[in-house]
Amino acid sequence: MPFQIFLNMHMMWGLLLIFFVLALALPRQVWPVVLLRLFYLVMIVSGVGMLIALQFPLFYIVKGLLAFVLIGMIEMVLARRKKGAVSPVQWGVLLILLVLVPLMGYQVIYF
Ligand code: HEM
Repeated sequence: MPFQIFLNMHMMWGLLLIFFVLALALPRQVWPVVLLRLFYLVMIVSGVGMLIALQFPLFYIVKGLLAFVLIGMIEMVLARRKKGAVSPVQWGVLLILLVLVPLMGYQVIYF
């Protein structure tokens, strides 16, 4: 598949953010979580597709790994929040990754 298709898919990352906020705001609703998980898949498939097309540059490998940690943190927060057991450090890590991963995607942060 051409790179551009994966990039267009990847540009929908804002929807992932929206469904995360909705999942937090509507804890008794299941659909925001279902759609959120669908968008994890969209991001992972398109991200890996671009990684292959770009021939695995180290910078984007690191960005991809951080994105996987971000997805893990989102899932952890959604699971623990019902028990009220999310620590400030866990929230902090999630928020930092939520800023860092898109900034790396747009190469505002680059190495
Ligand atoms: C929560 C998940 C993710 C978020 C929020 C995210 C965010 C972004 C953003 C904002 C960009 C800039 C381009 C755009 O989409 O407009 C980008 C680019 C990129 N992302 Fe992600 N990403 C995520 C997951 C991943 C994963 C899992 C991988 C790889 C395994 C990956 C690989 C890439 C690559 C290779 C680019 C570079 C595209 C280019 O050359 O312009 N991303 N990402």
